[in-house]
Amino acid sequence: MVGAVSALDESQFAQPQDFVPDRWLQHRPLGQIHPYASLPFSHGTRMCIGIRIMEQILSIFIARTLQHYNLEWRGEDLRRKHTQVFQPVGPFSLAFTERN
Ligand code: HEM
Repeated sequence: MVGAVSALDESQFAQPQDFVPDRWLQHRPLGQIHPYASLPFSHGTRMCIGIRIMEQILSIFIARTLQHYNLEWRGEDLRRKHTQVFQPVGPFSLAFTERN
């Protein structure tokens, strides 16, 4: 859960409660992000050995999905619960519309 705490820490991330994926752009429009503030694959000698393949798979998956679909949230504000990972509470109303 360390990552969950750090992700919501205002001293690490501006507007921590807001979904602002642009914060990760290379020029860091919302301010610098400490390299250890987000470590989903951990760090050091016991870090995940799958990190490179997962980064590639996720990049390709996201790029291919957005090439073919527009994504639109049609639900209420999404709440989440903390388990081993975050889990949505309530319906997950994400609509995929095929792009022309
Ligand atoms: C999004 C997907 C994944 C995430 C978020 C993830 C995350 C993690 C994390 C947090 C650890 C613990 C590191 C530690 O103990 O400090 C770990 C360990 C590990 N992961 Fe992953 N992982 C992912 C996918 C994969 C894949 C695809 C593989 C295999 C190809 C893999 C293989 C391993 C192995 C073998 C370890 C143990 C490393 C060790 O203890 O030396 N992981 N992973």
